[in-house]
Amino acid sequence: MKLAIGNDHVAVEMKKEIRAHLEQKGIEVIDVGTDKTDRFDYPISGYKVAKLVAAGEVDGGVLICGTGVGISLAANKVHGIRACVCSDPYTAKLSKQHNNTNIVAFGARVIGIETAKMIVDEWLAAEFEGGRHQRRVDMIMEIEQTQNLKAAE
Ligand code: RB5
Repeated sequence: MKLAIGNDHVAVEMKKEIRAHLEQKGIEVIDVGTDKTDRFDYPISGYKVAKLVAAGEVDGGVLICGTGVGISLAANKVHGIRACVCSDPYTAKLSKQHNNTNIVAFGARVIGIETAKMIVDEWLAAEFEGGRHQRRVDMIMEIEQTQNLKAAE
């Protein structure tokens, strides 16, 4: 498995620890940065990870900023991306099972490293369940593709 990881200046330490955690599990990690604690605009790393995921160059992405919000919003602007902010492992697991998320995000100012590891582990272990959830995910992607939703007309 190959994942991409990205962060801003607030989340450098957490990113390094999560990267090491993933590599210990035998996962190849493409780290788009930043490794510097100088102010860094989170949309850059959100965009870079999202492009790798959308292009199929990696199997998923992990994004970390102060809250996880800005960096996931940036990633979600790339077509094909379903990124969500998780502050607990249950949401991370369900986000894959029901929403087929392809990027998980969290906030270095919000959660601790052990919770972050649990979030990543649950998200990686979960599988999309399809079925009724596929229809709803398809509706989300219809909005993205057409800026319309036939079911809502
Ligand atoms: C940086 O101060 C902060 O705004 C950023 O890390 C993130 O929380 C944005 O959503």
